[in-house]
Amino acid sequence: MKINGEHTRSIWQEQDGQTIGIIDQTLLPHRYATLQLKSCEEAAHAIKSMQTRGAPLIGAVAAYGLAMALRKDASDENLERAYRALLSTRPTAINLKWALDEIMAAVRNRPREERVAAAYKRAAEICDEDAAMSEAIGRHGLQLIEDIAKTKKPGEPVNVLTHCNAGWLATVDWGTATAPIYMAHDKGIPIHVWVDETRPRNQGASLTAFELGQHGVKHTVIPDNTGGHLMQHKMVDIAIVGTDRVTAQGDVCNKIGTYLKALAAKDNGVPFYVALPSSTIDFTVNDGVKEIPIEERAGDEVTKMTGRTAGGQIETVTITPDGSPVANYGFDVTPARLVSGLITERGIVPAERKALAAAFPDHASLKSLAKRAVG
Ligand code: MRU
Repeated sequence: MKINGEHTRSIWQEQDGQTIGIIDQTLLPHRYATLQLKSCEEAAHAIKSMQTRGAPLIGAVAAYGLAMALRKDASDENLERAYRALLSTRPTAINLKWALDEIMAAVRNRPREERVAAAYKRAAEICDEDAAMSEAIGRHGLQLIEDIAKTKKPGEPVNVLTHCNAGWLATVDWGTATAPIYMAHDKGIPIHVWVDETRPRNQGASLTAFELGQHGVKHTVIPDNTGGHLMQHKMVDIAIVGTDRVTAQGDVCNKIGTYLKALAAKDNGVPFYVALPSSTIDFTVNDGVKEIPIEERAGDEVTKMTGRTAGGQIETVTITPDGSPVANYGFDVTPARLVSGLITERGIVPAERKALAAAFPDHASLKSLAKRAVG
């Protein structure tokens, strides 16, 4: 990912080898500032308050959070307590549990004096693996964009629609949905991205637009309700979104509003792809609508808007009548039947039980399920 032309990641280990650096995403796009996390409590707060966010990235931060907890106290009791505290920060994205379970597996059977180093080592590997998975997702997704550029739009920009932020700010590097976009752009394929604003927190308008702009990718921010109209008028060639959890049967849980885009895509014959690393697949659940816990967030995310005034001040205003109740469901589930394919690090996989199990036999195995159930 590029910030002011310089390559950087969304999470890094500071010089002391213990503190973790992240970008404070609550301040973007108006201010770029980094934060130093020194304890499990600070990591948990950063995830809960969405200073850091996006399914793969919260997994990476939580992994370091557990390592930092062990630095304070490497006992079994503290390990268990910290695991629970970090796990409770956000309920929907399965990467959080996946990453915490990876750290648990790395430290559980070790003597206390080895636990801290083992946890930091595994957390660093999780970050490197995530960046590598995103890069591989990019290579596989690039083929879809190249294909459209060659067969349907020679010489014209390929129009991609995306929802929320499944970019490098949501992962360690590259992003999931955005990785194919960056690779196409870097290869000189003309590309343009329709960026859903993604109410209520505006991850599209604030974050996806920011990172596409930093990389020089042409884009247009649209109100959330615009996608269907664009699709009817053949202004979308492909939709690519990220996900917080994919079930064994291929249902896709992602930021609220994704389902409506998938319905519109189906009705208009627009390919609807979902990009994800295997750490986002939860083989322990089948029916996403019935089984995935959907995070409900504070009402003030709906009743208030924050932005920059003409004078450069960051201000928050209220947009609803005093006393009007609001609902704030963070995610929805797109049934597998609406998904054209899953762009994974191992290639493009049909959103369907057998295909997923065949592509990821190591994740789908009983052994892996037992390991995931730990804790
Ligand atoms: O609530 P957020 O901002 O953490 O939600 C993020 C999303 O829904 C992303 O699309 C998803 O995590 C995929 S990130 C590669």
